[in-house]
Amino acid sequence: MPENPGGELLCASAELEERGRAFVWDVLMYRQRARAFALRFEGRVVAYINRCAHVPTELDWQPGEFFDQDRRWILCSIHGATYEPADGRCVGGPCGRGRLVAVTTEERDGRVYWYPSRDIQPVPFDAAPAESFP
Ligand code: FES
Repeated sequence: MPENPGGELLCASAELEERGRAFVWDVLMYRQRARAFALRFEGRVVAYINRCAHVPTELDWQPGEFFDQDRRWILCSIHGATYEPADGRCVGGPCGRGRLVAVTTEERDGRVYWYPSRDIQPVPFDAAPAESFP
């Protein structure tokens, strides 16, 4: 059960097509700027931190494009680690027993919300742009 029943508004439900382009946004993970992404898979919205379990780098081969050619798996563009979209588990490639870090989401009334946790927080409204972070 999310701590904040309201959640943070992410996007309209219609923006996330089945196995389509992901919605990407900035968060603070352990107080460091990171990117997260949300996509729709088998009707459900799932979201993860955009960070490979192999080497901590972003996965998408173009902004918001995380799926492999068949749009079945999340595929890391760097060395081909393959993840199950439904739960972020590594299913092939160099991610071993790792998994993507999940972000809790909820879809209601035609909108998608995400829920901060102790480790993953929204970027403060007045924070400097990403380029100026160390
Ligand atoms: S960084 Fe993702 S597979 Fe190596």
